[in-house]
Amino acid sequence: MGRIDSLLAAMTLEEKIGQLTMVAALPDAAGFVLAEEARAAIAIGHAGSVLNVWGEARTREVRTLARQSRLGIPLLVTYDVLHGQRTVFPIPLAETAAFDPSLWEATAQVAAREAAEDGVDLTYAPMIDVSRDPRWGRIAESPGEDPRLCAQVAFAKVRGYQGAGGAFDGDRVAATAKHLAAYGASIAGRDYAAVDLSERTLHEVYLAPFKAAVAAGVAVIMPAFVSLAGVPMTAHTRLLRDIVRGQWGFDGVLISDFQAVAELVAQGVAADLVEAAALALTAGVDIDMVGGAYAQGLPQALERGLVEIDLVDQAVRRVLLLKERLGLFDDARPKREVASAGAARAHAAPTQAMKDGSSASSAPERASRNLAREAARRSIVLLKNAKDVLPLRPSVQRIALIGPLADARRDMLGPWAGAGVADDAVSILDGLRAAMPGVDIVHVKGVDVIGEELDEIDRARRTARDADAVVLCVGESTDMSGEAASRARLGLPGRQQALADTMLDLRKPVIMMLSSGRPLMVADLIERADAVLATWFLGSEAGNAIADVLTGRFDPSGRLPVTWPLDIGQVPIHYAQAPTGRPPDPDNRYTSKYIDLAVEPLFPFGYGLSYTRFSHHDLRLRASALSPTDELVVTVNVRNDGAREGEQTIFLFTHDVVASVGRPLRELKAYAKVRLAPGETKAVTLSVPVSQLTVLDASLKPVLEPGEFDVYVGPDARSQSLSKARFRVRGSR
Ligand code: BGC
Repeated sequence: MGRIDSLLAAMTLEEKIGQLTMVAALPDAAGFVLAEEARAAIAIGHAGSVLNVWGEARTREVRTLARQSRLGIPLLVTYDVLHGQRTVFPIPLAETAAFDPSLWEATAQVAAREAAEDGVDLTYAPMIDVSRDPRWGRIAESPGEDPRLCAQVAFAKVRGYQGAGGAFDGDRVAATAKHLAAYGASIAGRDYAAVDLSERTLHEVYLAPFKAAVAAGVAVIMPAFVSLAGVPMTAHTRLLRDIVRGQWGFDGVLISDFQAVAELVAQGVAADLVEAAALALTAGVDIDMVGGAYAQGLPQALERGLVEIDLVDQAVRRVLLLKERLGLFDDARPKREVASAGAARAHAAPTQAMKDGSSASSAPERASRNLAREAARRSIVLLKNAKDVLPLRPSVQRIALIGPLADARRDMLGPWAGAGVADDAVSILDGLRAAMPGVDIVHVKGVDVIGEELDEIDRARRTARDADAVVLCVGESTDMSGEAASRARLGLPGRQQALADTMLDLRKPVIMMLSSGRPLMVADLIERADAVLATWFLGSEAGNAIADVLTGRFDPSGRLPVTWPLDIGQVPIHYAQAPTGRPPDPDNRYTSKYIDLAVEPLFPFGYGLSYTRFSHHDLRLRASALSPTDELVVTVNVRNDGAREGEQTIFLFTHDVVASVGRPLRELKAYAKVRLAPGETKAVTLSVPVSQLTVLDASLKPVLEPGEFDVYVGPDARSQSLSKARFRVRGSR
């Protein structure tokens, strides 16, 4: 008998349910604390996994508790490492703007190594919820609005965390694809609210990234908190068991979201924890994350005949298998902790040294910081640069650095900062001062991010009056994004609008930087500012990365992974609109538009400027009649029309002109990046297997329908800026 079979044979019911039960350290004033009761449960084998414990000493201690239990089954140590552990990378929405799978993988790999060094076995990432509603705070954690892009991020991140073959060697952790599915479509952008959408959209848009995660070998999937058309995801047997496990062949572990099994009662599908536990287990949820529904409910559920012991055994087997794959039975991970104790000590080195990039930190740590800086600068999206006010000219000798986000280290880190420490982050002030030692940089906070109390607007005005340029740092604080941070109004909170207005009235060059976890609705300010950058929450190296871009040391190359609305009234909005019989026509009232607001967003998906200008020409197809096994091969010439070197991103969208179901007017199929010297032209070739034009027909069966297709190529999803060509797909006979 193998190890898992012998264990299963030896386990009591309580011990089996213990493997399906997760306890958590919970935040209090002193940090995360694991309650006595939770420790006791681990020590007697009644809790097989733990959340929110990390760090060498603490994880060793809880692991030892588990090892002392009757069967000594090792503990699974889990933590949310979303965009970095100690080195904090840009929030996922920002990092997606780099449109670079190798970068996504590289940052996940460093996060995995640091998490593993901190004794963590499993992270709750990647978060791959397609997000089309910026009111929803969790858009910050997501890769944005496009299913294909989210799928690519999913694939790259799973490889980064787990390693290519999912071998979980010492530097990797198990990844979790979350939250399946359609969490981003919660009604009115309100977190945890219900979802109601078509089966087609569920499959084509929201499930697609999860399918990619499964293809990449993701170890764990987390069902979302929400219900879909009345059925909570935690109890969604058809989705979880039939589709994810059955059709997709996912054989990993399903872990509920926090207390989500118990919440089935409030969601109105279970009368008590007994029914809740039975529903979730039946749907295929293996581990109950906190809330104790399995511990309290499963024994009675078995007695009442709501579930069979066989289901319990299957779940336990999957959990034990994961522990085995992670090497936990062989103490492979605690051993690694010992090996990395030196690295952990190096982390405690003086923080200032890290800030100016000098010695004191270990080589891997320096490499991680360098990667964080690279990721951060590639995540910045230049939204506007009137009169080429950026990069800052040498004549700028005095800068007024104004706003509540200029010297806000914690706010640079973003909503899931792992074990990141605010003092280790480089603020915008730190970064600019380090990059421009000869320039007089005067900082005035002006106002707080939220609240009305602080009033230094007048002081800010006086400071700005004497400066050559104003760098205005406004936006959200880190806790205004992420979970439970939905906002109904997406303007600048607090008194920031008044501060910004005052700065813009001065008629000085104003460079506005928007720190946020989402597109902000500040069209009036964007209109008036000379330059605007989306600087999101860029992580540990935020300030250095921003300085790299402002000084021109790095040419901005980020592109929006999400449509930037003009006004909250357009939300939800995304580029892949379905066709209508009455497309918007300014001269015809009876067309699909608003009478009081434009239908076009402020900035389309894919938008972003560089310090140089590009144009594209001569779109051509290798062949315009293709069979289902062919590839669509498209070439376009991209020219750098400006005076600086730069990197352009070229997108390829398709549209199925006539199909059995109306298809979106644009669907992203490919993109490519090209680096060009001034005046240089390069031919960029993009290819798409024709099989990727497969659609779900009216009965949701995948079919490749022959006929005419349009291909659009260009710098973003806005129709006017795209070149178009038509091709034909022949029938398979
Ligand atoms: C979030 C998850 C997270 C979990 C554990 C929940 O509230 O929805 O994304 O992984 O907490 O921290």
